[in-house]
Amino acid sequence: MSEKLLMRALGGETLDVPPIWMMRQAGRYLPEYRATRAEAGDFLSLCYNPDLAAEVTLQPIRRYGFDAAILFADILLIPDALGSDLWFVTGEGPRLSTIETEDDFAALKRGDDIHGHLAPVYETLRILSRELPEETTLIGFAGMPWTVATYMIAGRGTPDQAPAHALKAENPTLFNALMDRLTDATIAYLSAQIEAGAEVVKLFDSWAGSLKGQDFDDYALAPAKRIVSALKAKHPDVPIIAFPREGGDRYVGFAKATGADCVALDNSVDAAWAAQHVQSDGCVQGNLASSHMVTGGDDMVRETREIVEVFSKGPHIFNLGHGITPDADPENVQLMIDTVRSTS
Ligand code: CP3
Repeated sequence: MSEKLLMRALGGETLDVPPIWMMRQAGRYLPEYRATRAEAGDFLSLCYNPDLAAEVTLQPIRRYGFDAAILFADILLIPDALGSDLWFVTGEGPRLSTIETEDDFAALKRGDDIHGHLAPVYETLRILSRELPEETTLIGFAGMPWTVATYMIAGRGTPDQAPAHALKAENPTLFNALMDRLTDATIAYLSAQIEAGAEVVKLFDSWAGSLKGQDFDDYALAPAKRIVSALKAKHPDVPIIAFPREGGDRYVGFAKATGADCVALDNSVDAAWAAQHVQSDGCVQGNLASSHMVTGGDDMVRETREIVEVFSKGPHIFNLGHGITPDADPENVQLMIDTVRSTS
């Protein structure tokens, strides 16, 4: 049995002090990240530079001693590996070639050798396995097919994922072919991450909340189930965290239905409700609003204590409800960590 706190929580143990990490913990709120990012040039060059990607992954571990390090990469490296054009516009976000027709889908030629393209990511994980402190867990990740498809179809982030919903309704054959291609690629990518040293993997479905009713079953739950069972068949001891963001009452039963070891809760979910209806099935992660990392103060301390206390009767990993933002104050992060570790 692993002694690492994060692994123990994922194994179902109720701990006196919950392990802590933060989504986007390596990011622009840290001056040392901004310096390394400037050295790398652009964001994608940083993702594909194993030495520098490992360096930014380690920065928040050195500064704060988080219980887990998450691989520095991006969910959009999969479309890049499949052959989409991908670039990032500073201050705006990602841009990709769009998928509107069968021809656009057929043009994703590189699909057969994603591993050649993604080799630098695996190298980053190998460096991290050597360099992380022994108490720190290494987390790999991928985007879930629906969320990645929303970017591939629209060619950018969209507030309501309307282009993806439209393709799903108008050309279900093409939409399902894209979902299947992404599901297969995600399984191959995460297996390779595990072989390179990831001890846990997290599935980011950031736009799961826009899937309603049967669509949620078909495009959030079913792909998660397929990915989890394929990974568990090959790597039965590697825990999986699923993040069907803004899933609302669909969080209930999600871990059981998919085989995931833990579900990550966004901050639109009431913690007391989640303790009763979601944590009853096993480990949960979350769910402090990331805006507290900007505003800090007594409100942050009170809310942090409340989340720790509400989840203290079962397995819990303390985290934010979504990624920390560039305008966060690094001192608020330290105060949050001190609060979690002294509340318990
Ligand atoms: O959590 C971590 O620290 C690990 C690394 C990580 C990044 N992105 C680095 C990143 C992870 C796990 C992601 C996941 C990701 N990427 C998601 C799912 C989680 C979520 O936030 O909902 C999504 C939707 C993306 C796609 C993406 N990447 C967008 C929309 C953007 C632009 C928005 C922004 O914040 O600028 C990115 C860029 C990105 N990914 C940055 C980082 C640190 C900022 C890039 C920079 O340095 O300029």
